[in-house]
Amino acid sequence: MTVHEEPEAPGAFRAIDGMGWVREPLDDAVTGRRQVIAPPAAATLGTPAHRDAKAAQRAEMDTPGTVYMMGDNPALPKMPERPTLEDFYRLRFDDFSVSHMLQSARLARQKGLDEKVVLACLLHDIAVPGLLRSDHGYWGAQLVAPYVDEEVAWAIEKHEALRYFADESVGYSYPKEYIAFFGEDYDPPEYIHREHESARKHRWYMTSRLITLNDMYSFDPDARVDFEEFGDIVGRHFRQPAEGLGFDGSPVAHMWRTMIWPNNFL
Ligand SMILES: [Fe+2]
Ligand SMILES: [Fe+2]
Repeated sequence: MTVHEEPEAPGAFRAIDGMGWVREPLDDAVTGRRQVIAPPAAATLGTPAHRDAKAAQRAEMDTPGTVYMMGDNPALPKMPERPTLEDFYRLRFDDFSVSHMLQSARLARQKGLDEKVVLACLLHDIAVPGLLRSDHGYWGAQLVAPYVDEEVAWAIEKHEALRYFADESVGYSYPKEYIAFFGEDYDPPEYIHREHESARKHRWYMTSRLITLNDMYSFDPDARVDFEEFGDIVGRHFRQPAEGLGFDGSPVAHMWRTMIWPNNFL
C-alpha cells in the first residue's frame, strides 16, 4: 500500500509503502534535499515491508535532489557532542520504557537492595527502546558491559531467560502477562532453557533474579520517576567515558552511535 500524505511540519515525513519514509525539505534543512529513510533489516525481515519498502525507496531516489538520510535526523532531538547515559534516557528512549526501568530501579532501592542491583534494574531493558527487542537482555548487557561491574552486565543478560521460569522460593511466578503476550502454551526455545539452568547454578544468580522480581511490578502508567533520583548510583557505578558514549573507541561504541543516528543508511 502506498500512502501519499502532504508533508507537514515539523517532521514533514511522507510514508512510502508502509515502512520507509521520505523527509521533504523544509526551510530548516541544511541541504534542502529530500531524505529517504530505509528501516533496518531487523525491523522488516519477515514482513511485506522488507521487499516493498526497498523498491519504493529506490523509486524515490530517482527524484533529483533526493539522498538517503545520514547524520542528524531533524525529527529527533540533537544529542550532545559527548552523550551521557542520561542523555539517551532523555533524548532517545520512549517515556513508557524509561518509566518502566526507573520504576523498577526505585522498587529495588526501596527494598534496600545493593546499589549494583538498583543499577541493573535501571538498565535492564535498555536495548528495547533504543536498539532491538529480540534478545534484548543480551543486547542490553553488551551495550553496558564496558561501563559497569561484570556482575551487573551478567545479571542483565540472564534476565532474558530467568523471566520465563518461576522461583517460588523468592516469590517469583511465571508472569501472567506472558500468557496474554505469547499464549498459554508458549515454551521458550531450548537455548533459553539451557541458559536458565546454568544461570541458576551461578554465584550471581540472585542478582539477575532480583531484576525479574522488580520487573513485574514496574508498569504503573501513572508513576512519575526522574532519572535524577539515581544520579548518585549512576555516578558511583556507571563509568561514563569522558569522550561520550559512542565516541570512546570501546568495542560497543558503535551500538551507542546507532542510537544517536538510528536512521543512517550505512
Ligand atoms: Fe526485560
Ligand atoms: Fe522489564
